[in-house]
Amino acid sequence: MTLELESPPPDVRRAPSLHDRMLANFRLARESYVRHHRSRHWDLFPPDYEARLGDESLWPDFRRNGLTRGFGTSRGAPDTPDDTLDSRAAGKLVAAFDGLVGITGFEFVRDYHEARIGRPVALEHRGLLLDRNDLRLVHDTWEIVRHLGLPADAAPTFVEIGGGHGGLVAKLKRRWPRARCIILDLPEVNAVQTHYLSTAFPGARLLLYSEFLAGGAKALSGEFDFAILPGWTADQLRDESADLVMNTRSMQEMNRETIGFYFDRIHRFLRPGGLFYCVNRYTKSTVGEPIRIKDFPFDDRWHIQVSRPSFDQPWIHELIAVRSTMPVVPAPASTLAALPPYRLADVGTGLATAIRRLFAIIFGDHPNINPGIPGTLRNARVALERGLVAWVRGRPGLRAGLKKLLRR
Ligand SMILES: C[S@@+](CC[C@H](N)C(=O)[O-])C[C@H]1O[C@@H](n2cnc3c(N)ncnc32)[C@H](O)[C@@H]1O
Repeated sequence: MTLELESPPPDVRRAPSLHDRMLANFRLARESYVRHHRSRHWDLFPPDYEARLGDESLWPDFRRNGLTRGFGTSRGAPDTPDDTLDSRAAGKLVAAFDGLVGITGFEFVRDYHEARIGRPVALEHRGLLLDRNDLRLVHDTWEIVRHLGLPADAAPTFVEIGGGHGGLVAKLKRRWPRARCIILDLPEVNAVQTHYLSTAFPGARLLLYSEFLAGGAKALSGEFDFAILPGWTADQLRDESADLVMNTRSMQEMNRETIGFYFDRIHRFLRPGGLFYCVNRYTKSTVGEPIRIKDFPFDDRWHIQVSRPSFDQPWIHELIAVRSTMPVVPAPASTLAALPPYRLADVGTGLATAIRRLFAIIFGDHPNINPGIPGTLRNARVALERGLVAWVRGRPGLRAGLKKLLRR
């Protein structure tokens, strides 16, 4: 089961039953929409979205005709744009490609890129067809592969929250063909993911919302390649059942209530030693309140392994956190607190730290760590004493003379 990178996308009209299943599941999930899941940012689907999902003529071009607006193409992208990128966009894409190749090597990009299904506006370069959003997902794949360290024949369980068209889980599935991938997203986007993943992996076993409702938590313990479900089903994931949770560029567009909802579940269903790959903006306010990665409600049982600005988008932060069974020192909260944006209170914290360090240097704290001036003088006196004693011991004549002197 592999992505056909070099061949044209299969004709999507070949599977009317899957198309009907996708639509039926979209309607079902929409009926039970849990309100807080759709933030103001995501209140963007046009009234005719269902009709558009049902129009099979739109699917061959779905990554350029507005169906993926906001999750793959930008919110302001026009419908059916030209085939070619303007020279500025092409230059940025080539720069991003060069940067990525510098990190992963050419072969990794060649093996994992994908810009054919749904025909995003892409650029031919060095024999590859490149899409900017896809290159970011290639980078995410690289980081996950490196940090997860699982053999290719492992059968892990992956959970992605807010997966866009499904590009990242598709790449991970190529790497680990036996993986069970659970995508949690909005019903509108679940429909697109169903189309993309079944096109990329013809014959894949899909678990959709209707089967989930029929089977409940048991369905999630069964055999499937992709479970494509609305986010509120996260309640049904078994404790410590996931090896990896991903959230890239999406909690930044959710309400705080929704972020809290997901963190409660992640804390429960990610197994000890499992990874959380979390890539989100330092700050974004499109939901009507500031959402900052530094405020994400990580509890104290995380080792933060990686914390740095994201590849290609320095206004976004990349975190890789490993789940622990015990509270971790330094606490994740202290790593997060140090991230921008800064507050005036941070200046106070910085000043207090600077003053504490200055006092430790001058007056000392622990004698082995920061002896301070008193500790340095004490250490110098002890060293002097020891040096003198050793010097005298090395001179027997002097020792005898001293002994005589002292006896008088
Ligand atoms: C900007 S896209 C990012 C897509 C992809 N992760 C990427 O990095 O390209 C944000 C994603 O978050 C999803 N999303 C928004 N609200 C959500 C919610 N309440 N639960 C799960 N996913 C949600 C959107 O549907 C979309 O798939």
